[in-house]
Amino acid sequence: MNKFARIIGTGSYLPPKVVTNDDLSKIVDTSDAWISKRTGIKERRIVTDESTCDLAVVATNNALEMAGIDASELDLIILATTTPDKIFPATATMLQKAIGANCPAFDLQSVCAGFVFALTTAEQYIKTGAADKVLVVGSETFSRIIDWKDRSTAVLFGDGAGAVVLSGSEETGILHSKLFSDGNYLSSLQVSNNYINEIGFVEMEGNEVFKIAVSRLSALAEETLKACNMSADELDWMVPHQANIRIISAVAKRIKMPMDKVVVTVDKHGNTSAASIPLALDIAVRDGRIKKGQNLLLEGIGGGFSWGSVLVKY
Ligand code: ACO
Repeated sequence: MNKFARIIGTGSYLPPKVVTNDDLSKIVDTSDAWISKRTGIKERRIVTDESTCDLAVVATNNALEMAGIDASELDLIILATTTPDKIFPATATMLQKAIGANCPAFDLQSVCAGFVFALTTAEQYIKTGAADKVLVVGSETFSRIIDWKDRSTAVLFGDGAGAVVLSGSEETGILHSKLFSDGNYLSSLQVSNNYINEIGFVEMEGNEVFKIAVSRLSALAEETLKACNMSADELDWMVPHQANIRIISAVAKRIKMPMDKVVVTVDKHGNTSAASIPLALDIAVRDGRIKKGQNLLLEGIGGGFSWGSVLVKY
């Protein structure tokens, strides 16, 4: 049995089309000043004809390259997505075919908490010895479920994908993970229309979501540090879900984490749901901020609500 699940490769991909706040102000009654001040978002990437699987394939290939392994060596693929390409088959199986893997592959849906749920699930497979090399991907095309006439949601989201390759290790890796769900808030953030052949759009009570996100993620950050017998000083980086800079900075402030130790990509990516944490992680790994042996706190919350954290020695 492995003691730890260790991250041995990261990768990400953003579709090339950039949509700025000024671009959005031409289609809904909004402004760069409003969006920047309330959310910290300046621009986001939006797919033109790429699918959720297409984004996942590029992110995966980048992660496999960094890990130095071939897709044929994977034992399991977990794809976190809220925007699968079809109701079925699972987008994970499309990804499996596209990269030439030969292992079980399934989708996991926990909206913006999807990546921490998938990472925690993968960790269990590795720790029990059921798998040794696991690909965990967050890939989303939220632009397909946005009502582009609704300014309260249209300005918040973007498309993208991030991936990590995990491997069993005796030395280092995921130190702690914890997941929560509370179904008392189902209508606060949802796509209520689930009928086949009818498109549903994101509906959100923004103020409610904001308050719950700050309170749950702050408490969880404190509980995670306590469970690991760590102080915030011992954390090298927080890599949070990128929904809103005000949520991110409120959580950082609560655990006394300076913002220069928080990876922030929301300005450039918007909220990419399950993709946001692995995207931010990959960017900070590749630009040299995140280094081997550092302690990282990953945290996310999404509709349901569901939320969770993973503390990892990278
Ligand atoms: N441009 C201009 N004005 C707008 C826009 C917009 N895009 N959207 C709303 N407004 C207006 C409202 O109509 C309202 O006008 P009124 O005062 O005349 O009624 C005013 O701005 C204030 O609206 P609020 O909803 O109170 O604004 P708030 O400060 O709460 O900011 C926001 C809204 C940014 C959505 C905030 O509530 C938020 O970030 N919530 C968290 C939501 C989130 O991050 N969701 C992502 C998914 S969940 C997750 O990932 C955690």
